[in-house]
Amino acid sequence: MKLFLDTANLAEIQEGAKMGILDGVTTNPTLLSREPGDPMENLKAICRTVEGPVSAEVIATDVEGMLKEAHQLSKLAENIVVKLPTTTEGLKACKQLTSEGIKVNMTLVFSPTQALLVAKAGATFVSPFVGRLDDVSSDGMNVVAQIIDIYNNYGFETEVLVASVRHPMHVVDAALMGADICTMPFKVFKQLIKHPLTDVGLEKFISDWKAAQQ
Ligand code: E4P
Repeated sequence: MKLFLDTANLAEIQEGAKMGILDGVTTNPTLLSREPGDPMENLKAICRTVEGPVSAEVIATDVEGMLKEAHQLSKLAENIVVKLPTTTEGLKACKQLTSEGIKVNMTLVFSPTQALLVAKAGATFVSPFVGRLDDVSSDGMNVVAQIIDIYNNYGFETEVLVASVRHPMHVVDAALMGADICTMPFKVFKQLIKHPLTDVGLEKFISDWKAAQQ
């Protein structure tokens, strides 16, 4: 499973990239708005830092506006993926952009029917938001399981990108289901390597070794 960072913070992305297991980045307007400086310049810096796709979202809600912004975004760097909202207008824009060879990540997906439609429109990635579904007492990971089954039934090539991840168990469940990608905040990314027994065990190995040298 590929691991993406869901952040627009360059320092976090640089640190994640140094770990050697970072496969890409997802941003959204909220994440970009939290960072100082020009968002377009920030996106370019992120694209230089990551070896892998970087999703950047349009703001327009009509097809013409989405296509205009998508063409501007795709010129920023070769690894930009245009993120579009999963609406009727977004679906039309997705079909057009993918026919031009521009990679598209369909975002704000909350149901298997939305996922079916974006795959038919040729989306490169589909982003079900598991945390936000859990927030309203729906089972976010169940929606991911349904999407994976549907895509397998018909051989769709759209990659399932599990988004709105809140904790490491979302990552475990996504991997058990065979999701293609999980995108997560830097905090969750760092939690994946941590285990208290590793820390305690390491401390003991070192102290035993030092004691034997004296
Ligand atoms: C996905 O690409 C989104 O940026 C993101 O996962 C949203 O997560 P949130 O629900 O924590 O805002």
